[in-house]
Amino acid sequence: MSDDVQEVARPPVDSSEAPIVVRGLRNAFGEHLIHDDLSLEVRKGEIIGVVGGSGTGKSVLMRSIIGLQQPEAGEVHVLGHDMTRPSEADEIDVRSRWGVLFQGGALFSTLTVGENVEVPLKQFYPDMTDTLRQEIARFKVRLSGLADEAAFKYPSELSGGMRKRAGLARALALDPELLFLDEPTAGLDPIGAAAFDQLTRELKETLGLTVFLITHDLDTLYAICDRVAVLADKKVIAVGTIPELLALDHPWIQEYFNGPRGRSAQAAEQKGAAEQSEAAKSNGGRKPLANASAPGPDDREI
Ligand SMILES: Nc1ncnc2c1ncn2[C@@H]1O[C@H](COP(=O)(O)OP(=O)(O)OP(=O)(O)O)[C@@H](O)[C@H]1O
Ligand SMILES: [Mg+2]
Repeated sequence: MSDDVQEVARPPVDSSEAPIVVRGLRNAFGEHLIHDDLSLEVRKGEIIGVVGGSGTGKSVLMRSIIGLQQPEAGEVHVLGHDMTRPSEADEIDVRSRWGVLFQGGALFSTLTVGENVEVPLKQFYPDMTDTLRQEIARFKVRLSGLADEAAFKYPSELSGGMRKRAGLARALALDPELLFLDEPTAGLDPIGAAAFDQLTRELKETLGLTVFLITHDLDTLYAICDRVAVLADKKVIAVGTIPELLALDHPWIQEYFNGPRGRSAQAAEQKGAAEQSEAAKSNGGRKPLANASAPGPDDREI
């Protein structure tokens, strides 16, 4: 079958089921080809982990999806909008329905955490009263697992883990349907990383989010991702659950998931699942209560 025939055979994008649809994406910087005919569909309500070696173009893919990188070719649809040719109305609608945590955090250093969270609120709801805006910002700070006082601190006064949570609070400012997280646990210690993972899962379940999560962290993949997309050879070479990916005979996938770090993450996940099942038995079969809106043991600096 020729490429042309495949183009014609493509079904229309159903954004009610797939809030992100990327087809035939091509990105290059000069001679440097990053993506070539890359396709990916993200399902509503899932946490999709995006993995791949450093420099394979994970962040560039995220930038293409949110319209910060104009691709050379291909289609990008987000929440039903064509992101390669967005109208002004499209842009306003879609930008108010997603939240983004960039790889570096990207907080405004001259603003407090609370003021950082207020930025998108000011942008999209200019008529909101100061009091309401500040209240919403403080609520998002708490929702992200930070203590109330953190709202009054500047980014330079926070630990790396707290900055990530502050970035998350800002990403949640507009009650998004879609959350983009680029390496949210990079640089955190394992306990802090696990706490952030748990928070992501709880937010997804409580708020019904779809999460596009770029990570190198195998523990994160095992702990919270519904499916994993693997970037290699300038494409998404496979998408599936971890057991589905493990069944594939691709050298990078085998090396990644079956290498020493992959095996230890797998063992940790199995141990965690066994402990949770024991805890559920001794708790009358109930799952431990997830409470995303109140700061819990993660209040500490991570
Ligand atoms: N604005 C830019 N101009 C030129 N080259 C760029 C630009 N942005 C990214 N690149 C290049 O594109 C490639 C992919 O970069 P990207 O940041 O997407 O990698 P990544 O998969 O996110 O890596 P990491 O895991 O290290 O974050 C890299 O070779 C990078 O140097
Ligand atoms: Mg990156």
